[in-house]
Amino acid sequence: MSTTADELREEVRRRYAESARAVSEGSAGSCGSGSCCAAVDESEARLFGGALYDDGQHEQIPEAAALASLGCGNPTAVADLREGDTVLDLGSGGGIDVILSARRVGPTGIAYGLDMTDEMLALARQNAAESGLTNVHFLKGVIEQIPLPAASVDVVISNCVINLSVDKPAVLAEISRVLRPGGRIGVSDVVAENRLSPEQRAERGSFVGCIAGALSKGEYEAGLEAAGFDQILVEFTHQVADGMHGAIVKAVKTSEPEARGLPVIQPAAKAGCC
Ligand SMILES: C[S@@+](CC[C@H](N)C(=O)[O-])C[C@H]1O[C@@H](n2cnc3c(N)ncnc32)[C@H](O)[C@@H]1O
Repeated sequence: MSTTADELREEVRRRYAESARAVSEGSAGSCGSGSCCAAVDESEARLFGGALYDDGQHEQIPEAAALASLGCGNPTAVADLREGDTVLDLGSGGGIDVILSARRVGPTGIAYGLDMTDEMLALARQNAAESGLTNVHFLKGVIEQIPLPAASVDVVISNCVINLSVDKPAVLAEISRVLRPGGRIGVSDVVAENRLSPEQRAERGSFVGCIAGALSKGEYEAGLEAAGFDQILVEFTHQVADGMHGAIVKAVKTSEPEARGLPVIQPAAKAGCC
């Protein structure tokens, strides 16, 4: 029997709830079977999670936020964050990139984290409280229906989450909707070489492990263009499996998605905010 999109999303939610519980209960780290960082063997753990941040950044975050880090890059190093910016992190997990962004944009800026998993939101809120920041807000929701108004965000960041979406065109259209004209994307994600078919990607790892659902470089570029982006850059940074890479994704919003023939997605009726 094939897995429906809802079942797949529920599997992702369950898996990351487990990761959040592991950190909250004081297990050494959140990386367990089936999560993104488990895509590689232990000797290559530096390819995922807290190891991708420098010492200076570790000093700016609570230890639990670093332990909960499950990303495949460091979007705060990719995104060009400026004082006063409003930043949105899609799939914010334990909050590491939201906390680092909040420091970068300063008290006149805002950092939002969006996640669908209650356990991750609880952990992130605890980490934010510990960091003493007041310009951080965590929202409950899915990245395919972002609970924020149109043109309300300057920069969208994300760390190893878009590959986990069951509807990537909807995510890209939603990013475009919430960004102001000239708004930027600075994302880390797993991306496949164009030569790999979806079946070949699935042979290299699971969907919840951030491998099977990865877009190819060409699919990412075409999806961003269709969603109204220009100055698109999808660049491999480190290989995580044969033909699969941690990558940085950058783009600038220059037109509305509907202008390029994409459906406009309505925001969720209820924000579910903090
Ligand atoms: C691989 S972890 C990355 C977490 C965080 N970005 C980091 O770098 O540590 C994926 C996170 O995205 C969330 N997530 C996955 N799919 C999502 C979706 N469709 N909508 C909202 N959150 C999602 C999960 O709950 C989890 O917290």
